[in-house]
Formats: sequence, C-alpha cells, structure tokens
Amino acid sequence: MDLMDKIYTLITGGDKGIGLETAKELGRAGQHILLGARNQARGEAAMKALRRAGVIGADLIMLDVTQEATIQEAARWITAQFGQLNVLINNAGIALDHHESPVTMPLATIRADFEVNFFGAVAVTQAMIPLLRKGAPAKIINVSSEMGSLTNASDPHSRFYRGNALGYQSSKAALNMATISFSKALAPDHIAVNAVNPGHTATDFGGGTASGQAVTAGAAPIVALSRSDAPHMTGKFIETAGQVPW
Ligand SMILES: NC(=O)c1ccc[n+]([C@@H]2O[C@H](COP(=O)([O-])OP(=O)(O)OC[C@H]3O[C@@H](n4cnc5c(N)ncnc54)[C@H](OP(=O)(O)O)[C@@H]3O)[C@@H](O)[C@H]2O)c1
Repeated sequence: MDLMDKIYTLITGGDKGIGLETAKELGRAGQHILLGARNQARGEAAMKALRRAGVIGADLIMLDVTQEATIQEAARWITAQFGQLNVLINNAGIALDHHESPVTMPLATIRADFEVNFFGAVAVTQAMIPLLRKGAPAKIINVSSEMGSLTNASDPHSRFYRGNALGYQSSKAALNMATISFSKALAPDHIAVNAVNPGHTATDFGGGTASGQAVTAGAAPIVALSRSDAPHMTGKFIETAGQVPW
C-alpha cells in the first residue's frame, strides 16, 4: 500500500477511555493511529494496549492540547513522517465543575474546562488544517456531549434539564459552535467537520464502571463516523441514535 493510500488518524486524549477504545477499533480496521497523550508513561501503556488489541500501525505523539509547543511539534512530526492527515478526532476532555453552582463556581474552574474542551480543540484543529488539506477528503470529529446541547439544557422535559455544570456545558456548547464554524470554513477544502455525542459512558470521566454504558458503545458513533464514506455530511451533531439537537 502506498503511503498516500493509508488513513492517518490523530486522536487527542487517546491514552484511556473513549479515546483509547476508538484507537483500538480504528487501528484494527486498518487506520494508522496517531495516539495523542500528554503523559509519556500513560501514552506508552496505551501503545502496549493497542498492540495487545492487534493494532499494527500506530505511533505515540506527545500532545497536551493546552500546550501550543506540543501541538506545533505534533504537526511538524506528522508532516515529516506522513505529509498528511485524514482524520482528526478532538477527543481530549475534562469536567472540573463537581456539581458546583454557577453562582459560586470559581472562574478558574470554568477557564480550565474551556482550555481543554474548547481552546484545545480549536488550537489542534488550526494546527492540523494544512495536513488535513493534504489528506482531503478529510474529517474532523469533535467529541462533544449532549450536556452541551442548549436545546436539552433549556427543555424542562429533557433529562438534562436538571444538570447545571456551567464550565463543562458551556465549553461543549462552544465546541459545538466551533464545529459549525469550521464546517463552513473548510467545506471548500473537502474537510467535513462534525460533533459527536458518545453518551454517558463508564470511563474515569463518566464515573467509572458503576455507571454508564460500555466504552465500546461510547466509542461507536466516533468509530462509525471515522470509517464512514459519507464525507459530504458536515456541520452536524450526531450520536448512535441519530441527530442531537444543538
Ligand atoms: N464518559 C462520558 O460519559 C462522556 C459523555 C459525553 C462526552 N464525553 C466526552 O468524551 C471525551 C472522552 O472522555 P472519556 O470519558 O474517555 O474521559 P477520560 O477517560 O477521562 O479520558 C479523557 C482523556 O482526555 C485526556 N486529556 C485531558 N486533558 C488533556 C490535555 N490537556 N491534553 C491532552 N489530553 C488531555 C486525558 O489524558 P490523561 O490520561 O493524561 O488525563 C484522557 O486521555 C471527552 O471529550 C468527554 O467530554 C464523555
């Protein structure tokens, strides 16, 4: 297979949870995984897990989405090694809110959520656009959340109405707007940009194994979109069941 025939897929926050499961499944499906991790030891452990899962084509990339230097270095390295990127999965995410009221939540907490969930995803996207243009038709998949849906949050009949995590929810709502914004800007370059809701999943983030669906179910809509050959779909917010209201 020629270098240019391969599908190169960068996953941020790939060392555990939904990101790692997505890496395993896409790697087994033949995509070349560029596994982003901010911690060397956790990244190497994830690479071992990938190999145990039968993934052959994978590289570890040290990438902290809040550290511009690591983003630029990742882009330089991918340019030198492969010259293109076909799929970018902005998966890294945090929620530091801990059920605190928006009335008293420290601004520092809200800013920290935004640094990873919004500014981190935007910074990685901007840095990877030249590589995605070379890999077009290409895809950007923003791992968002139903908790970021303004429609859900404001609907008294929605099960998300009672949730009120200002930092996490507004950072994911902002990521949704970035999805729409980049989808319009990158349509002429044949780069599709969509947001995906994994749903409540039993990861460290989602509360561990006691709650939430299996990690395979959380990764499923991301894997499906990454493997889909419908590059014309762009500017959507989707989950396994279909569309999520913005
Ligand atoms: N689990 C759920 O119920 C659920 C529901 C809806 C949406 N989501 C979304 O799904 C995505 C993945 O969540 P998950 O459940 O798999 O969570 P997780 O198991 O906690 O994994 C989060 C990943 O993000 C990484 N990360 C955090 N800050 C980072 C940074 N500054 N730079 C690079 N990587 C960073 C973590 O790296 P470290 O290992 O170094 O901490 C980890 O690899 C998130 O965007 C989350 O908002 C999850």
